Amino acid sequence: MNRKILDSKVLVTGGAGFIGSNLCETLLNQKNEVVCLDNFSTGHRHNIEDFLVYPNFTLIEGDIRNYEDCRKAVSGVDIVLHQAAIGSVPRSIKDPMTSTDVNIGGFVKMLFAAKEEGVKRFVYAASSSTYGDQTDLPKLEHKIGKALSPYGITKYVDELYAKNFSELYGIETIGLRYFNVFGRKQDPKGAYAAVIPKFVMALMKYESPIINGDGTYSRDFTYIDNVIQANQLAATTPSKLIRERSQLYSKLESLSINGESDMISEVFNVAFGERINLNELVQALKTNLSVFDKQIADVEIKYGPNRAGDIPHSLASIEKAKFLLEYKPQYSVESGLKEAVEWYWGNLLKTNMS
Ligand SMILES: NC(=O)c1ccc[n+]([C@@H]2O[C@H](COP(=O)([O-])OP(=O)(O)OC[C@H]3O[C@@H](n4cnc5c(N)ncnc54)[C@H](O)[C@@H]3O)[C@@H](O)[C@H]2O)c1
Repeated sequence: MNRKILDSKVLVTGGAGFIGSNLCETLLNQKNEVVCLDNFSTGHRHNIEDFLVYPNFTLIEGDIRNYEDCRKAVSGVDIVLHQAAIGSVPRSIKDPMTSTDVNIGGFVKMLFAAKEEGVKRFVYAASSSTYGDQTDLPKLEHKIGKALSPYGITKYVDELYAKNFSELYGIETIGLRYFNVFGRKQDPKGAYAAVIPKFVMALMKYESPIINGDGTYSRDFTYIDNVIQANQLAATTPSKLIRERSQLYSKLESLSINGESDMISEVFNVAFGERINLNELVQALKTNLSVFDKQIADVEIKYGPNRAGDIPHSLASIEKAKFLLEYKPQYSVESGLKEAVEWYWGNLLKTNMS
């Protein structure tokens, strides 16, 4: 079953960011009415400027820490896809206050505004960082460890609020724990850039990518189109199906069941379900980029110290999303990297890479 968001008014918070702007694009292509709320703190106007001409796209430049902005943005909306947050573990270690204000304070304001407006379903970006120091692989939704960063804490607290709001007010909430997402429009610049776009940009300039540690740390890198699919399924899978399958899944996994509750509040891992290490990643990037410029194959890798807050390995179990939502990721890391590199090659060359 390939459920899609159709004929709906959808609010995408953080819609000028990497994941948000890709969601906006898909929703517009599917002829929905799209509202984007963003304060451009880490997102970019160029990610959404093509959409501004569409009559079914509205940009609200505002802040999720401001309740009035949240109320304005959510007016008449059927579904919220909440992406706005201050991402990055290292950034939250440097500045825990802003991460907390936005990721928890802003989250609660957005969620409360959605509830006040009578929004039926609130889908939000959760994070694999919630697993903290849990070392069991693959990671199962109900087994989380001790937090390793303020960012991880904020994302876990969001899950607690979401569940509590579902119980108190009946709003349906679905958290998607994204695992290292990559793809078109992900920002390669800045101190907190994600590893894939940062390495692609370095390699395109014949500069050595610097791996933190010895390159044996591994991640379940997830291509953006898999994340878009998960959002569509989370937003459209009927409540009745989720409820029935959730009870069945809990029985199969011997988990405690939420009584006979009618409320929908779930959390899912969103990933491909395989991992590669950093050395393999850089090699794959070099191979893909060498198709465009052979010299890139000769760029050396450099190694630096491990980073605080990093766990050695991460791999998701995606069984719950498969079972409850019929999630079926279409892109492996390999096919996703090919798409991403092609996009960066076409787009970074056009813009100033410095
Ligand atoms: N990219 C990943 O690998 C990953 C992994 C796990 C979770 N997530 C989560 O997914 C979501 C999207 O991440 P992304 O990678 O697209 O990051 P991003 O930085 O590209 O996008 C975040 C967007 O939120 C906006 N924003 C930040 N603070 C805001 C505020 N106070 N008010 C309004 N808008 C605000 C930013 O301007 C930006 O456009 C975030 O919630 C992030 O925590 C991402």
